Amino acid sequence: MHASPFTPIGSWRANGQAPAFEPEALLAAVARVREPSHVVREEKAGRLGVAFAGEFVPGSGANGAGYPLMATLPALYPEWLGDRSFLETHRVRFPYVSGAMANGIATSALVIAMAQAGMLGFFGAAGLSIDRIERALDEIEAALGRGGPPWGSNLIHSPNEPDLEEAVVDLYLRRGVRRVCASAFMSLTPAVVRYAISGLTAGPSGAVRRHNYVFAKISRPEVARRFLSPAPPEILRALLAQGRINAPEAELAARVPLAEDVTVEADSGGHTDNRPLTALFPTIVNLRDELVARHAYERPIRVGAAGGLGTPTAVAAAFSLGASYVLTGTVNQAAVESGLSAEGKRMLAQAGIADVMMAPAADMFELGVKVQVLKRGTMFAVRAQRLYDLYVRHESLESLGAEERAKIEAEILRAPAEEVWAETQRFFEVRDPREAARAERDPKHRMALVFRWYLGKSSRWAIAGDPDRCLDYQIWCGPAMGAFNAWTAGSFLAVPENRTIVQIARNLLEGAAVVTRAQQLRSYGVAVPPPAFDFRPRPLA
Ligand SMILES: Cc1cc2nc3c(=O)[nH]c(=O)nc-3n(C[C@H](O)[C@H](O)[C@H](O)COP(=O)(O)O)c2cc1C
Repeated sequence: MHASPFTPIGSWRANGQAPAFEPEALLAAVARVREPSHVVREEKAGRLGVAFAGEFVPGSGANGAGYPLMATLPALYPEWLGDRSFLETHRVRFPYVSGAMANGIATSALVIAMAQAGMLGFFGAAGLSIDRIERALDEIEAALGRGGPPWGSNLIHSPNEPDLEEAVVDLYLRRGVRRVCASAFMSLTPAVVRYAISGLTAGPSGAVRRHNYVFAKISRPEVARRFLSPAPPEILRALLAQGRINAPEAELAARVPLAEDVTVEADSGGHTDNRPLTALFPTIVNLRDELVARHAYERPIRVGAAGGLGTPTAVAAAFSLGASYVLTGTVNQAAVESGLSAEGKRMLAQAGIADVMMAPAADMFELGVKVQVLKRGTMFAVRAQRLYDLYVRHESLESLGAEERAKIEAEILRAPAEEVWAETQRFFEVRDPREAARAERDPKHRMALVFRWYLGKSSRWAIAGDPDRCLDYQIWCGPAMGAFNAWTAGSFLAVPENRTIVQIARNLLEGAAVVTRAQQLRSYGVAVPPPAFDFRPRPLA
């Protein structure tokens, strides 16, 4: 082993934070397990690290403890776990993002708390009206100020409502929202291209400067390829012809990828392809490397990891896969600042690792798309699947048969189908009259809209905490929740009031640094005992 000099990198160590490992515990534990690898503590100029020592020679050794120094490991900070360019580009302290959660479950309060703690949070704009989104932008801006700490909002692909997607982009450009998380895209739309390209300029050195950042959330290589490539020329030409971007922007667009941050999403809550991170992440990194080389981009593209991250070990694993940053979702829904009802959070706190299942999605119901939801304590998944099966087998509500229809009216809709249709029709006449007209003509579509009424309402009941509809709560949830509950059991984070978004994030990060440090020691041949990998949640300042 060679002595590795402590190389200061950056200014974080100057901020007076305690380093992220527990030297006393580690010292005692390692010394007990394997004497020759006795570990001593190095404390120089306020830095704290762990050093290995070789065989005991009384009176010798640089530290005077009788152990010749063989190697040192400097202190490790959570700030260093990811890609430094992520911190610099987005002006955050930690390589940690809280993902958007639809219908305002990722509230403005959640985004504000994240920003104030030096992390990036995305507002859950999906499913909300333009007015409601704008209200949230007002709240965030009032708390953080213009030019304050960075934050973002969601741009969700709306295949059924392209006008809405355009209107959201108009709003974001008008209000100067500089970071969006682009999700549910299968192919690129003019709206997302317009957002990414607007404001591109050439800097004094000729390098392309970006005004708006797209965080593309992907779980498939073919979608990743689109975001990792420059904007398609045909879309740029159309936007230019419509005067929606200018000529320099269109020209500079050929030199940059659409997204410089790509979040690889493994098995997660909500929309998911249920892929394991260990299979998906390296695949996307290879693709990124191929496209960076092909297009000779001027800047690196960062790849973040999401899906299944609910424990320090999982976060450490994501960083050791090479993640530039990590993004969490499910565990944040249990946070104090989340928009989910107290009853919904209580149900989440009971979840074990297997208490999730795939259920039909409200937005792409007819296509058979599914989302991962909480199974324990709610009948939603089973009931929604029953509605989907009926939709596939029947051509209209009328053809369901009196008995079947009576059952779903009594057990699921709790209202006559005609009444539900009347309410749905009124909704679509305002929101999208084309849908209402199509349903008038097409009885199968009418049935789909009636069933989607239940799927849409079930999320609202969970958010509002409707006591009469507990058994119908639709709560998006991935296996990370069960892992988080098992990790936090008996700790201060098991108490719902203590589960603030920042304590969740800081504990995951701090724990990931501890686990990483223990693994570093192990990789140097130290017989590191299991407790060194076990980080218990604690209030972190
Ligand atoms: C309740 C809930 C709602 C979500 N809504 C959205 C959304 O509207 N847009 C989006 O991009 N991702 C959404 N997600 C995904 C998260 O942003 C995040 O990518 C994902 O939850 C990460 O995986 P995890 O659940 O295993 O932590 C949602 C997740 C949950 C749990």
